[in-house]
Amino acid sequence: MSASMSTIHITVNGTSYAVQALPMKRLLDVLREDLCLTGTKEGCGEGECGSCSVRMNGELVNSCLVPVLQAEGVSIETVEGLATNGELHPLQQAFLNCGGAQCGICTPGMLMAATQLLSINPHPSLSEIREGLAGNLCRCTGFTRIFESVLAAAASDSSPSPEPATNAR
Ligand code: FES
Ligand code: FES
Repeated sequence: MSASMSTIHITVNGTSYAVQALPMKRLLDVLREDLCLTGTKEGCGEGECGSCSVRMNGELVNSCLVPVLQAEGVSIETVEGLATNGELHPLQQAFLNCGGAQCGICTPGMLMAATQLLSINPHPSLSEIREGLAGNLCRCTGFTRIFESVLAAAASDSSPSPEPATNAR
């Protein structure tokens, strides 16, 4: 018996959608194919590289591992949601200024992982940035410029850190 399509209700970057899809279709594919949000990239397709990272209800996930059924009723943030009113997000601007992107395949995932990190820890140390981006691979930059980009974005945010970080290794 073949699987049948379901209607999945998801909110992406503040816009609500009712998507007709097979329940086990990957969220990555729904974003790219059904919603034409091609900013989210596929690298490994196996949960190893972080290129497909998005935020679901404020948690960072690999969208290649998420059946769209699990996204029912969930609020999703993708890289397309970072810029507002034509203005780059501070992280995007910092990646641009610091050379944090080369081929760009890893960049959307890096930006979402960095967004997640800064939402928890607005002023991370270098080691905390390394840890926060540990699930994201880059084959081009050697990581140094990516880490510098996150440091620069954090430095551009003048808001005080709410509390000391507790996850230092
Ligand atoms: Fe999803 Fe690599 S494409 S983790
Ligand atoms: Fe090419 Fe990171 S910029 S993989």
